[in-house]
Amino acid sequence: MVKQPMILIADDDPNIRKLLGEILEEEGYRVDFAVDGVEAKNKLTKNVYHVILADIKMPGISGIELLEFRNKICPGTAFIIITAYGTIKSAVSAVKNGAFNYITKPFEPEELISVVKSALEEFQSFSVDFEKLNNLFIGTSKITKEVIEQIKIASASDVTVLITGESGTGKSLVAEIIHKLSPRNKFPFVKINCSAIPDTLIEAELFGYEKGAFTGAIKRKPGKFELANKGTVFLDEVGDASPQFQAKLLSVIEEKTIETIGGTSKKELNIRFIAATNKNLKKLIEQGVFRQDLYYRLNVFSIHLPPLRERKEDIPLLASHFVNLFSKKFNKPIKNISSKVMELFFKYPWPGNIRELRNVIERAVVLSKGQTITLESLSHEFLEFTNNKDFKKRQILIEEKQKIILALEKARWNKTKAAQILGMTRSQLRYRLKKLGLE
Ligand SMILES: Nc1ncnc2c1ncn2[C@@H]1O[C@H](COP(=O)(O)OP(=O)(O)OP(=O)(O)O)[C@@H](O)[C@H]1O
Ligand SMILES: [Mg+2]
Repeated sequence: MVKQPMILIADDDPNIRKLLGEILEEEGYRVDFAVDGVEAKNKLTKNVYHVILADIKMPGISGIELLEFRNKICPGTAFIIITAYGTIKSAVSAVKNGAFNYITKPFEPEELISVVKSALEEFQSFSVDFEKLNNLFIGTSKITKEVIEQIKIASASDVTVLITGESGTGKSLVAEIIHKLSPRNKFPFVKINCSAIPDTLIEAELFGYEKGAFTGAIKRKPGKFELANKGTVFLDEVGDASPQFQAKLLSVIEEKTIETIGGTSKKELNIRFIAATNKNLKKLIEQGVFRQDLYYRLNVFSIHLPPLRERKEDIPLLASHFVNLFSKKFNKPIKNISSKVMELFFKYPWPGNIRELRNVIERAVVLSKGQTITLESLSHEFLEFTNNKDFKKRQILIEEKQKIILALEKARWNKTKAAQILGMTRSQLRYRLKKLGLE
């Protein structure tokens, strides 16, 4: 089913919101509302819209400021200004600044519909191929759905993105998807591993050199930034960049120019940056090992990928995705996973996140005999690990914790009631709470 375009209506006048909403819904569009510029701004970072209709005069953030924000965060969304008779001049300058058009209050429904229609026609070509996204980034949990929405927003815009999350949560994958779905996808995606380049080679690697720049420079070599021109640079493990590396990055991101070693002039660059790290950059800033100014440059739009243990609902779909992938690769007839294995997958905390799940399934596919992945097809290491006493103990504690929290929530944090639900005395419950570190 083709979904109807989604329109955001931002106006502080409730009557205008209602009127616009009714007219547009009647035409079959989906609508969402923001009561002022602040709410609209908020919504633009959470959802994807095809058209924004914004009043020019709103308390807090005006329509003009909202337009500037949209230029940065979602330039692929058409922006239509709603203006009153007295503010036509600013509406005209808004159009120069990237708004598609404006409508003046009072307006005729036909006029509104025709402006929205032509905006949709004109902006359609910019729209990102989101259909693909569900096959690229897999998962059904609420968290993953939110991440997918953020990927959409990041793909439609050109802002710098910072992706955070533990190792194996999919940071590199997200960076690649954003590039693939972005208007820069015809140009290179260049990955720079910030922890792997020694200080002495940074300049040569990033900026490149001219022939004869130093002994051994027998021919010109372009640096990574030059190779990525018009495309995307992925700064992987940016939290591990040395101080010197950080300083170089900051100047390139700020000035958008480079100078090759032995070169005579600066070269303009047109690059989009995406950075990723499994480190807590704020902590590194506190410790004085990461530059705050660089952090602000990178963290314009942030995407956090929670660990797999916090989104276990994703496991079945991810698991079957990997089963299909590796069955094809190794030419095996495997179709499903036994319920015992799935049960174990749900219990296991996956410290290596999705990468670990992928590896476990790859090995299981190789070891499997029939059509189903059973406990026998799991590797010894994995089974040993999950049979490990500590793992079991920890698992029991986790389950107990969950049970107690559930009971407390049910009892609205009344301990006597919660103890009743759990079938223990109040003092027993207090003892357990202390033991489990819940108090
Ligand atoms: N949601 C997902 N859907 C499908 N595959 C995924 C998903 N998330 C991660 N993967 C896969 O899991 C593996 C690990 O992901 P990735 O390499 O992107 O993790 P990472 O966060 O960059 O890890 P590191 O910090 O170690 O670099 C990859 O093979 C990736 O394709
Ligand atoms: Mg990675």
